Amino acid sequence: MSRVISIHSYRGGTGKSNSTANLAALVAAQGNRVGIVDTDIQSPGIHVLFGFDDQKIERSLNDYLWGRCSIAEVAYDVTYAIGESAKPSSKIYLIPASVKAGEIARVLREGYDVGLLNEGFQDLIENLELDYLFIDTHPGLNEETLLSITISDVLLLILRPDSQDYQGTAVTVDVARKLEVPNLLMVVNKAPMVFDFDELKLRVEQTYGATVAGVLPHSDEMMVLASSGLFSVKYPDHSFTQVLRNIAAHLMA
Ligand SMILES: Nc1ncnc2c1ncn2[C@@H]1O[C@H](COP(=O)(O)OP(=O)(O)OP(=O)(O)O)[C@@H](O)[C@H]1O
Ligand SMILES: [Mg+2]
Repeated sequence: MSRVISIHSYRGGTGKSNSTANLAALVAAQGNRVGIVDTDIQSPGIHVLFGFDDQKIERSLNDYLWGRCSIAEVAYDVTYAIGESAKPSSKIYLIPASVKAGEIARVLREGYDVGLLNEGFQDLIENLELDYLFIDTHPGLNEETLLSITISDVLLLILRPDSQDYQGTAVTVDVARKLEVPNLLMVVNKAPMVFDFDELKLRVEQTYGATVAGVLPHSDEMMVLASSGLFSVKYPDHSFTQVLRNIAAHLMA
């Protein structure tokens, strides 16, 4: 049985794309076949973490949504990104969205059939024999987000310890509950090292009545890396990676 995992946050810049890419890497390193779809069609970016040159994106998720190709034709093998941590059965496929201004504008202007996106997810799981499908999302509530929340086995909701994040996340948690997501997990990111992480975890769990799968520290190394690679590969022993590894284990349990 494959598992669909959506990573979402109410506000932008919480660390969705970095968490998605690194969780996918850690799960794949256990010998799994993993897919990642960039559904942030308005401002795509996760391909950058895999060192993917946008000029080399010949076909993107947009082409699939416009009926120009099958979704499997848009899947790029990026297993190289996990280097020596890959097992023989490990695979990571990335389905990038277009970064061409005209194509982004077209999606914003015309929209697309959200149902087709869902069919695409199922198609990917079957065609690529995926164990896990990760969905990176655009922040805030919109049609794609609602779809990905609805069809997910696990929804990972990321927030920073910030009053604006707290308030917005409450709205998203309400929506997720109404949509009956089978498994809602919270992740706190960018926690300052001076905070008491156990206390923070408890407070977030009490606020939302949901499990916090991990509290990720704010990291200068992450800021320096600046999305130019996979943090978990470059810093396998860093506390950020260790927490992420626990979250990955939770997802695979
Ligand atoms: N724990 C962390 N410590 C320091 N910087 C971080 C941490 N997590 C993420 N960042 C940085 O925060 C920025 C935003 O991260 P990322 O792109 O993953 O967020 P996002 O939620 O996908 O953003 P968007 O909403 O724009 O898609 C990046 O510069 C990233 O390097
Ligand atoms: Mg992002």
